[in-house]
Amino acid sequence: MSELFVPETIYVDNVSKTFEEPVSENSCYIIKDTSLSVETGEFFILLGPSGCGKSTLLNLIAGFTETTYGELRLGGKKIKKHGKERAMVFQNADSALFPWLTVRENVEFGLRMKKVSKKERAHVSDKYIRLVGLTGHEKKFPKELSGGMKQRVQLARVLANNPAILLMDEPFGALDAMTRRSMQKELVNIWRTTSKTVIFVTHDIQEALLLGQRIGIMSLGPDSKIVKIYDVALPYPRDITAPEFNRLYEIIENHFEGEAWTL
Ligand SMILES: Nc1ncnc2c1ncn2[C@@H]1O[C@H](COP(=O)(O)OP(=O)(O)OP(=O)(O)O)[C@@H](O)[C@H]1O
Ligand SMILES: [Mg+2]
Repeated sequence: MSELFVPETIYVDNVSKTFEEPVSENSCYIIKDTSLSVETGEFFILLGPSGCGKSTLLNLIAGFTETTYGELRLGGKKIKKHGKERAMVFQNADSALFPWLTVRENVEFGLRMKKVSKKERAHVSDKYIRLVGLTGHEKKFPKELSGGMKQRVQLARVLANNPAILLMDEPFGALDAMTRRSMQKELVNIWRTTSKTVIFVTHDIQEALLLGQRIGIMSLGPDSKIVKIYDVALPYPRDITAPEFNRLYEIIENHFEGEAWTL
């Protein structure tokens, strides 16, 4: 079931991105000279304010957009385009789901492309539809679902494909607090049992501390970059009442206050 892919470290080397064309001396850069490496099996968080360039950086890692300067690599191999080993959970589920397919058909889409048998597809889709709490909604079309439900279909589809690298762009932003908490727990369980690499974008400090092993802070754009990386050496499942959790929360919050902008 899993991709024939040996996971590799993800390298972001001095990457700059402007959407202006042609590029000139006066071009405004969304991301400027940023670098990062994410190890195989790591759970890495990108944390930053709205509009700083988190989605842009994730899209670069996914291979959906090209850098203006600098390069991205998977191990020794330059990232030039999207590859199946890197699956993206998009910020907006509307653009990710096929409106003409039911919930089950959306979840099974990637498996069907891989020619997985009908029986196995049903087994896998049942598992992930249950995991995201959508059992009973299998026959509905995206237009019949709420925003949070659509987001959970997208999540089930990506997990059903069992990618080595999960790129997640504020995947739980549209969910109510209780569903969000249970999805966070499930994601940690999946990550711990499958040793996937996860790069997870959020602007929520508590979510960052509940999930990540390292938290990379992006500065306010233009010219955004990862300005600081915090290690979160806390055991899983994380306890939001633990003194160390709260100490880190305050440090990160103060970091943002020091930058004179809010999340
Ligand atoms: N295709 C594009 N063309 C032009 N500008 C773009 C494009 N995509 C993003 N931008 C600009 O790049 C900046 C960063 O956008 P991005 O979506 O990466 O931010 P973000 O950190 O993900 O924000 P949010 O938290 O609100 O999702 C914004 O100023 C945005 O207007
Ligand atoms: Mg975004």
